[in-house]
Amino acid sequence: MDRIRITGGNALNGTLPISGAKNAALPLMIASLLTDDTLTLENLPHLADVESLIRILGNHGVDYSVNGRRESQEKGYSRTIHFTARSIVDTTAPYELVSKMRASFWVIGPLLARMGEARVSLPGGCAIGTRPVDLFIDGLRALGAEIDIEQGYVNATARNGLIGNRYVFPKVSVGATHVLMMAAALAKGQTVLENAAREPEIVNLADCLNAMGARIHGAGTATITIDGVTSLSGARHRVIADRIETGTYAMAVAMTGGDVLLEGAEADLLENALETLEQTGTEITRLNTGIRVRRNGGGIAPVDVTTEPFPGFPTDLQAQFMGLMTMAKGRSHITETIFENRFMHVQELARLGAKISLAGQTAVVEGVPVLRGAPVMATDLRASVSLVIAGLAAEGVTEVNRVYHLDRGFERLEEKLSGCGATIERISG
Ligand code: EPZ
Repeated sequence: MDRIRITGGNALNGTLPISGAKNAALPLMIASLLTDDTLTLENLPHLADVESLIRILGNHGVDYSVNGRRESQEKGYSRTIHFTARSIVDTTAPYELVSKMRASFWVIGPLLARMGEARVSLPGGCAIGTRPVDLFIDGLRALGAEIDIEQGYVNATARNGLIGNRYVFPKVSVGATHVLMMAAALAKGQTVLENAAREPEIVNLADCLNAMGARIHGAGTATITIDGVTSLSGARHRVIADRIETGTYAMAVAMTGGDVLLEGAEADLLENALETLEQTGTEITRLNTGIRVRRNGGGIAPVDVTTEPFPGFPTDLQAQFMGLMTMAKGRSHITETIFENRFMHVQELARLGAKISLAGQTAVVEGVPVLRGAPVMATDLRASVSLVIAGLAAEGVTEVNRVYHLDRGFERLEEKLSGCGATIERISG
């Protein structure tokens, strides 16, 4: 299995390009199931999760071509991909596929809306928590779907089509908001979603659906209104910049020191995290071309954070921020409110010399003056990258195992970091 070897201690300097957002790309690709026309997505990151979803969609009948060709000749770079679901050949998403990637459960919305039926495996638990699907089921039932759960599958039908309704999410959910928005786009009449997720990826999907002919208002606020239409057409749409990748590299610079332009990053997608970084003593400059991040000398000030749905501090940056706080001048508290088990990085950061104790959903981090390299591994994507950024700042060699987690969500990680002066390489086998 591949691993990443980092020799820490170099400041990061230069320009680092930001890719298209994984978490925007996945629902946008799934939206291609809603039309028999071609949906063209630009700035799709080249990631393992995108490749997996291409295979999953292929199973339902979605054909694709990359920049006009079937395969990209520039492996590893953001691409334009055309998706065409001329006809849906299978409305079942089997366990073998859904269990690999939770977001593939989201096909339930478009399949049900377009075909009047969907049979989708329950995704099961994952490393960061139990992650149930009750909100999807309640919400789709509110739109008139008949749903039962049998032998690990959700069987959903709406023989006469879905019918618009008002649905109040009892809890904010990104995935359930994506799915209900897609389903309601083809429902009869008006749907009003209250307490909807406000993440930028929701706005990106709503913009794409509107370009396809949907009538969606209010995405990005807690109330989304969808006036159903009878069919959707193709469109050309661009995936937004990855705010989590942006925040991750900004934290890496804050940790190692240096001066980096995060090219193509959009500050308004992660204001809360940028303001938090400013409080740690990192200089952030919002530019038209991206975000410039600088820390030259001066220590890292400790700052407390609590994860929240957007526009709050994102759970997907919690591990990376904890990495930064391990070298702060003092104590910080990091509270996770979205997932119940998202502290797997704590034990691994401790292997580098970090001092962290857990009190329920709060990690208490006592900053130390130096971290020392060690072999580490993590069981999810964001936890893994927190170990990479800690390794960049640690003395000596850090080896991060289970690189496949990183490949799920970070495009050309080693190349981007080594381009800014990091000593980082992938070791095969
Ligand atoms: C999305 O997951 C992201 N994934 C996650 O990023 C991100 O951490 C999360 O939103 C929160 O921001 C993608 O966009 C592909 P949720 P999602 O539904 O939609 C509970 C990464 O590293 N819940 O907003 O699955 C759930 O258990 C990934 O890129 C229910 O209780 O998250 C959680 O506690 C990890 N019932 C909370 O809601 C439901 O039916 C928020 O989850 C659905 C969710």
